[in-house]
Amino acid sequence: MANSSFAVVILAGAVVFTGCVGSTPPAPAQPPGWDDDLRLPSAKDLDPDPGVVELRLEARLAQLPFVATGATTMWTFDGGVPGPLIRARVGNRVIVHFTNQLPEETTIHWHGLRIPAAMDGMPGHSQPPVPQGGSFDYDYVVPDASTFWYHPHMASAKQVGNGLYGAFVVDDPAEPKGLGDEVVMVLSDLALNADGSLQAPDVSGDLATLFGREGDVVLVNGKVRPTLKARPGLRQRWRFINAAKSRYFQLALDGHEFLRIGGDGGLLTAPVPVAQPVLAPGERADLLVVPDGEPGTELVLHWIAYDRGFGTAFNRPPVDLLAVRLEGMRVDTPPLPPIARVIAPLAIDGATEIALELTQNAPGAPFELGINGVPFADAEPLMAHVHETQVWTVTNTVAFAHPFHLHGFFFQVLSPAGPLEWKDTVNVPVDGSARFVVRYDDRPGMWMFHCHILDHAEAGMMGTLMLMEHEP
Ligand code: C2O
Ligand code: CU
Ligand code: CU
Repeated sequence: MANSSFAVVILAGAVVFTGCVGSTPPAPAQPPGWDDDLRLPSAKDLDPDPGVVELRLEARLAQLPFVATGATTMWTFDGGVPGPLIRARVGNRVIVHFTNQLPEETTIHWHGLRIPAAMDGMPGHSQPPVPQGGSFDYDYVVPDASTFWYHPHMASAKQVGNGLYGAFVVDDPAEPKGLGDEVVMVLSDLALNADGSLQAPDVSGDLATLFGREGDVVLVNGKVRPTLKARPGLRQRWRFINAAKSRYFQLALDGHEFLRIGGDGGLLTAPVPVAQPVLAPGERADLLVVPDGEPGTELVLHWIAYDRGFGTAFNRPPVDLLAVRLEGMRVDTPPLPPIARVIAPLAIDGATEIALELTQNAPGAPFELGINGVPFADAEPLMAHVHETQVWTVTNTVAFAHPFHLHGFFFQVLSPAGPLEWKDTVNVPVDGSARFVVRYDDRPGMWMFHCHILDHAEAGMMGTLMLMEHEP
């Protein structure tokens, strides 16, 4: 029997069911209802065709109980924060009949999905804004397996900050089995007034925009400190998405280490041990963890302040994100199946060099952020042509770290050094730069890039890339 997942079942089962003769014991399982407190609602697939995922999605206001004393009027997809989990398989056609019932216009951007520019949700370039009461059908094929997410691309600091985001997972049926019992966790935060209402998106003015606004209410799947149950010794797979508009999430689980198996663009070539993974806004992490300890005890997953510049880590105590309650008899950790993803490094010789600076305008003038000194409103698009390879060097000149995101294409980061992987968002550290290589495929059109601290993006740190069909 060469199948390693079969071997896992027998091995782990034997520990629990020793003495059981004659029938195959069931594999050890997580405690009953283990993820009840956390499981995201799933978008309902209206199309019986296994190759097509078709759903309706509505953006609307909804009252949600974030404060004991009342309700908060949130901006939601389908009435929830986060919105429903969309799940598809590689190669599926996804059709989303979107309706906008918000008090203002919006679009949906499918963060990380390599889909045609016309479906990318960039208002004015890929589609007209969807007006209040209007609708738009998104229709595309999903080419890659990974953890993605969706969010509006208009007034995004406000709309995302008010609750509009959801998880989107694309599965690869050929992925190794037995990586762990999966939970998808959307990390976010919320800034509320004392009466429970949402804080205005421009509260505290330009200085707060420059810092990037973080809310005090820190959420995992829309909940404050939810509880996950775990069988001691049994591996879990946690897919994280940082959907916060400014907050970085540095994660620490009492006495435990993680194995990172994937990120923005699917699996790594091999797992990488990491004690305290960091997710900048927009980034995803696919982490394995083996919760272990005495049954009946609790582990806590903490948010740890990450220094993204100028006082952002100063004197900020850890925040409890999630309680992991250990339940049931301990089992021996099943062996991890090999991941063995092949990723070929992109060749950089002959690549066009692109140099960008993330900038703040000179003091004195009205506050603005920009790229190469130019705010988004005045920016000319960068040019590229299909199948071209470019190396981008993005240099930080503003005293805060910036998660730099490119729409529509994965890139490979050359520096800061890290494992070989596909990414769409990379952190540009304070006083530093990030360098990556991207090879465009055949999806011409206008694409965006920006800082994923959405306050920064809205203040001008955003630009466009025109991908031309033909060589110049
Ligand atoms: Cu999540 Cu323009 O991006
Ligand atoms: Cu994006
Ligand atoms: Cu920024």
